[in-house]
Amino acid sequence: MADLDTIVSLAKRRGFLYPSSEIYGGLGAVYDYGPLGVELKRNVRERWWNAMVREHDNVVGLDAAILMHPTVWKASGHVDAFSDPMIDDKASKRRYRADQLIEGHVDKLRAKGKDDEADAVYGRFVAALNADDPASALGQVIQDEEIKSPDSGAFDWTDVRQFNLMFETRVGAVAGEDDRIYLRPETAQGIFVHFKTVAETARQQVPFGIAQIGKAFRNEIVARQFIFRMREFEQMEMQYFVKPGEQMEAYEAWSERRMAWHRANGIRPEKLRWHEHEKLAHYADAAQDVQYEYPFGWNEVEGVHSRTDYDLSRHQEFSGKKLEYFDPQTQERYLPYVVETSVGLDRTILMVLCDAYAEEEVTNGDKTETRTVLRFHPALAPFTAAVFPLVKKGGMPEAAHKIEADLRRQFNVTYDEKGAVGRRYRRQDEVGTPFAITVDGDTLEDGTVTVRDRDSMEQDRIPAENVRRYIEDKVDA
Ligand code: GAP
Repeated sequence: MADLDTIVSLAKRRGFLYPSSEIYGGLGAVYDYGPLGVELKRNVRERWWNAMVREHDNVVGLDAAILMHPTVWKASGHVDAFSDPMIDDKASKRRYRADQLIEGHVDKLRAKGKDDEADAVYGRFVAALNADDPASALGQVIQDEEIKSPDSGAFDWTDVRQFNLMFETRVGAVAGEDDRIYLRPETAQGIFVHFKTVAETARQQVPFGIAQIGKAFRNEIVARQFIFRMREFEQMEMQYFVKPGEQMEAYEAWSERRMAWHRANGIRPEKLRWHEHEKLAHYADAAQDVQYEYPFGWNEVEGVHSRTDYDLSRHQEFSGKKLEYFDPQTQERYLPYVVETSVGLDRTILMVLCDAYAEEEVTNGDKTETRTVLRFHPALAPFTAAVFPLVKKGGMPEAAHKIEADLRRQFNVTYDEKGAVGRRYRRQDEVGTPFAITVDGDTLEDGTVTVRDRDSMEQDRIPAENVRRYIEDKVDA
């Protein structure tokens, strides 16, 4: 697998992603999507929306505002508890996440073959996470294990402190304590607060789901690994409301569907796995993550959580509004339980890029060369097809533009007439275009074109009028 730097460099060079405000030196952990990135992102979004909303008649959509009433975040627990345990290295003045320091230490022990020691430290780590005061307990582990700062190599740490991750801002012109609001750190709360209104206006009965795609903001302290951990990112979340007691069935069913979705996007199955949470949040009765093996190791791309009635009961308490559901069949009144699926759009994009990337040796006549190819699923690729005239004369550009115009009615396509055809193929391989259509002398004689497949590099010759159908079949497959 390519290392992360290779992916970052390709992403920038070919216009997938740029550092935000780059001419001013960038802004940490904030990225902009370029012309190809934005197409890829739209395609991933659309696949998710189709799989979650369009394919389920009991899942409906919502697009809530980023700014919400500040009490929402008191009710949700984010004001008091949405924080990371942080520790400062006094020597270098750099700040680290305490849990990541310990996990890094465990990984180092394993790399040195000290598995027994690693197991023991890991056991203490899990116990610390479950302690009454996890921050102090994590600090104790760092001290006892004499974990050094990766930066200064010293042991001189501060105490572990909790650091709230929400971005604050002010609403209105006069700043005061009461005007403080937050940029939402997750999209889910917009769904919870509208649960009852959506049920009534969309005439949905439990069990049903509400899905939403939107921006979320977290003031991440350790912001590395490109678009894996960002300060502004996008989430695709779905809350599924069920009768209490029926949550495990829904949890299993949605877990299965979510893993199937990642696989249907062409992600290699051996690079995906489930990771069950060692520590459940106090309100959850089951939680697991879909992990992908990124170039920097196995990490979460999506969480599936069974959250009981915690969120609805908190909003009922803080708003003073009854959020109970009345079941017309059984005549019962209850607060539904919630199963949540929550996937990061940007993390999905990073996974898709990493998984698609390949370098391979190919022979060209008597030369061997390396080609870089992004093997995107055809439905995700930024360009579905590229259209080339073999040469820039003799009616070929006109015929190629005609095919291009026809394809544009359905797909995002690109036209390229510059340079040797071999080089044009390579340019498309590098951005993952699955099909390249070439108009040549025969096209003008018999109306056929060649369609070259990005992965096999084989060519089919087919009538130009069938190209759109040919591609449609392959994209749907
Ligand atoms: N509503 C539940 C929730 O927000 P989470 O595990 O905190 O749960 C869900 O976030 C998903 O959002 C993660 O699995 C990840 O894909 C994405 N995510 C979270 N923080 C992120 C960040 N700083 N940058 C990019 N994606 C992030």
